[in-house]
Amino acid sequence: MKAIRIHFTDTGDELRMDEVEQPAPQSNEVLIRTQAIGVNRADTYRARNAPSGQPEPPRIPGLDVAGVVESVGPGVAGWQPGDPVMALVRGAYAEYCTAQSVLAFHAPEGMSTTDAASLPCVFFTAWYAFEMAGLQAGETALVHSAGSGVGMAGIQIANNLGARVLTSAGSDERVERGRELGAEAGVNYSNQDVTAELLRLTDGRGVDMVLDTVGGAIFDATLRALAPGGRVVTVGGHSGQRSELDEQRLADQGQWVRRAGVFDEAARDVEQRGWATMKPWFENSQMHTVVQEVFPWTEATRVQELLTNRGVFGKVVMEVN
Ligand SMILES: NC(=O)c1ccc[n+]([C@@H]2O[C@H](COP(=O)([O-])OP(=O)(O)OC[C@H]3O[C@@H](n4cnc5c(N)ncnc54)[C@H](OP(=O)(O)O)[C@@H]3O)[C@@H](O)[C@H]2O)c1
Repeated sequence: MKAIRIHFTDTGDELRMDEVEQPAPQSNEVLIRTQAIGVNRADTYRARNAPSGQPEPPRIPGLDVAGVVESVGPGVAGWQPGDPVMALVRGAYAEYCTAQSVLAFHAPEGMSTTDAASLPCVFFTAWYAFEMAGLQAGETALVHSAGSGVGMAGIQIANNLGARVLTSAGSDERVERGRELGAEAGVNYSNQDVTAELLRLTDGRGVDMVLDTVGGAIFDATLRALAPGGRVVTVGGHSGQRSELDEQRLADQGQWVRRAGVFDEAARDVEQRGWATMKPWFENSQMHTVVQEVFPWTEATRVQELLTNRGVFGKVVMEVN
């Protein structure tokens, strides 16, 4: 089969279309014929300093897929060859990929394959963050970077959970788009004082819960605007900066910071639990995905450049063949 692999070379990372062996589904796995791939910046992150000091072997990236079940492995119930499916996987940039059946899902009724491919990683990541924080209706949730995939999903989930939602972004236009998704107000972190603005928006009390995708200075500014008992769930750090954590202040205020991520073996059923709640929200038009653009998968390199240059609001998807 054809697959796009990252080749880690001494001069940089390259995405190349290669011919590789088709995988076979193992126990509790389904084999998926890929029709659409949701793109994440994480697809091409790499450990630049491999322990061996040598370039790593090429690997197939990709976390989000939608397509059709080709075959099922031993122990799989509820999936038949020919079923439409979306899944959280490792190795989506391929004509076929395998998914653990616990990470395979029926897309919302009537949703296109390209939209379905945009869902799993970002909606489940955001869901997990709110579940971890125990977000309650009526609390104030701050969802950073409205235009990121996780932000786009998080604003809508928090809204559906009954929270008052605040957001942030790198431009007024992107803050405004966050408001259109359900945030009540937002902060432009490229030209506003994040702490002061959040305290102003919460009458000095601070926010109850934060879903952080940015880290660094914005994380620090947010901590200074966290309400007593506030919780911060961090899922990533696009800023690439280190933050200054005052653990004494956190302890004194009864606050905590934790990390959430998909593929968490310690919370193996979180995605299925989340999907049981979120699928009806999609089907009742209480929530939608935002796919900015769809590309053929032969343009994978260009798509990654678009993400790296912060040129996307929501998601981009690639179609296979
Ligand atoms: N733990 C997990 O399981 C998991 C799963 C999915 C994602 N993540 C992480 O969550 C974060 C968000 O992922 P995503 O896929 O939603 O991101 P994305 O769609 O690529 O969005 C990134 C957005 O972050 C904002 N941003 C702020 N500071 C930035 C900077 N210094 N450089 C680049 N962008 C910056 C940009 O919006 P503005 O221009 O408006 O600032 C940009 O559009 C990433 O760190 C990712 O690795 C973690």
